[in-house]
Amino acid sequence: MDEKTIQQVKQRYGIVGNYEGLNRSIDVAIQVAPTELSVLINGESGVGKEILPRIIHDHSTRKHNKYFAINCGALPEGTIDSELFGHKKGAFTSALDDREGYFSVANKGTLFLDEVGELPLTTQARLLRVLETGEYIRVGESEVRKTDVRIVAATNVNMQKAIREGKFREDLYYRLNTIPISIPPLRERGRDIELLFRKFAYDISQKYRIEPVRLTEDARELLLKYKWPGNIRQMRNLVEQISIISQEREITSDILRSYGVTDDSLGETGLVLHGSNRMERPIEPHSYEKERDMLFQLLSSIGKEVKDLKELVHRNLDDIQNIPTNPYGLYEKKEELRPSVSYGNPSVIQQSKPYIVDKPAYQPQGNVSYPQHIQEVDVEPIEETHLSNKELMKKNIIESLKRNNGNRKKTATELDISERTLYRKIKDYGLDIKGDIRD
Ligand SMILES: Nc1ncnc2c1ncn2[C@@H]1O[C@H](COP(=O)(O)OP(=O)(O)OP(=O)(O)O)[C@@H](O)[C@H]1O
Ligand SMILES: [Mg+2]
Repeated sequence: MDEKTIQQVKQRYGIVGNYEGLNRSIDVAIQVAPTELSVLINGESGVGKEILPRIIHDHSTRKHNKYFAINCGALPEGTIDSELFGHKKGAFTSALDDREGYFSVANKGTLFLDEVGELPLTTQARLLRVLETGEYIRVGESEVRKTDVRIVAATNVNMQKAIREGKFREDLYYRLNTIPISIPPLRERGRDIELLFRKFAYDISQKYRIEPVRLTEDARELLLKYKWPGNIRQMRNLVEQISIISQEREITSDILRSYGVTDDSLGETGLVLHGSNRMERPIEPHSYEKERDMLFQLLSSIGKEVKDLKELVHRNLDDIQNIPTNPYGLYEKKEELRPSVSYGNPSVIQQSKPYIVDKPAYQPQGNVSYPQHIQEVDVEPIEETHLSNKELMKKNIIESLKRNNGNRKKTATELDISERTLYRKIKDYGLDIKGDIRD
């Protein structure tokens, strides 16, 4: 494939970077697209696996038909067969109607099976059959149906290890892996690291209308040495975090270190690499998740506080108009109560108690009282700081699930976490699908 075509594809799909290994992955994807071969995309978490199946579909003869991306890790084990292959009315208690599965609705199109390593063994057997013969059977039925679906799968787990441990069928692995595409980790991409930093810094500066952050030379060097266990997703989150929280626009290596960017040989989470693209789980398996959670909590609580404050200020201004006297010089300039900043202004976010309208230094005597909502503002954020990170996350998930009527896809999008992470947290926190607490 010529260089120009690859550059055009990168531009069209917003892919940044010139690293040879990345270009090779895109090249293979375009070349394999017009064929019917199964493709298995492998790479660490956050390297950008999700865009390649879309490129393959868009460059295939199936491009005018349906494309579905299914996160196998997010589908509950009990319903996964029914989701993929459909079911017959009455097949199980909640099967009130016949239902078509993805293999039926995606007929003539492409199915992207993300996190394919998470499929239960029973589903793997069904998948193998449909891949080999194009035949499948709905749950609770005996009639054999035919479908014509192109499969592209992705995984961030070490499939050889999963096979050794009996978690993944070897025959299915070879069937899926006709064309393997391996996406390189960020730490191997050299100058692309800085390009991506600049891209995300620019994106966020546009989004929040703030000056983009830039790197000093020593910061640039540190980014090149860092191991990036969460790859590009981690980079995007880091740049967002620094852009919003740091008051400095020129980012030094010391500032980066204060955000957890280290130059030790294993990086923060100690990913162990075996060979070129063999990856074991981190020694501390969920440390990246924790980092992500903390960032998420920080951003979502800032967002919520800004929203609350906006509402409050508008209500406040109305109430202030009604205060009859002004014995203590309060509210002399009403405009001062209106925050002069919008979401994302670093100078305000850095304050220890942001968005709280201060009471005067000394308390007035007599029956002068503050408008009720000013007191409320003073209390609410303090209450929140007593919540542990886990409780805060749980609270956010419950609220978001409620807002989205229990729809996990929308909830995950709103919270900016993967469906798989959301699904795990729902399980960890003992929430049912609607977001209510079970016990
Ligand atoms: N080369 C790139 N240029 C710009 N953005 C990228 C690039 N690669 C990845 N991204 C962005 O990084 C984020 C993570 O990518 P993606 O979701 O595809 O990761 P993944 O490999 O599927 O990870 P996981 O295994 O955890 O699901 C996405 O927001 C994606 O848009
Ligand atoms: Mg993914």
